Amino acid sequence: METETFNFWQDHSTQYLEMAFSTDRRERVEVADGYGKRTGECGDTVEFFLVVNHGIIKSITFDTDGCMNTNACANTVALLSEGKSIEKAWEITPDGIADYLQTLPQNEYHCAELAIGALYLALSNCKEMSRNPWKKAYQRK
Ligand code: FES
Repeated sequence: METETFNFWQDHSTQYLEMAFSTDRRERVEVADGYGKRTGECGDTVEFFLVVNHGIIKSITFDTDGCMNTNACANTVALLSEGKSIEKAWEITPDGIADYLQTLPQNEYHCAELAIGALYLALSNCKEMSRNPWKKAYQRK
């Protein structure tokens, strides 16, 4: 009986490969309108930095010390949320990330959950900052 082996370069979707290796959105922003940081049970951390104008996410960048799958998931979060309203960005889910990537390994689904958890923290932080803009300068990153 033949065993099927996964060929990384041939069997991953184009979306997965692009999101896994893209570094365009990896940037720390000193004073963000929304900031979220989450560390998963695996010990990896994802941080998101939102720049928001009139309730619309103008740009979203991230930093992570996580694996390639985490990078793929964080990039996808950024791609899917940029240009959306804060309310719409709450609708992005780990399933949405996995659907976009197509070939996120099943046993790495927690990387999508970690990225979404960090996004949700950034979104709620954004709300807090819009209520109390003076806090932005004191936010520690
Ligand atoms: Fe830790 Fe991917 S293995 S988040």
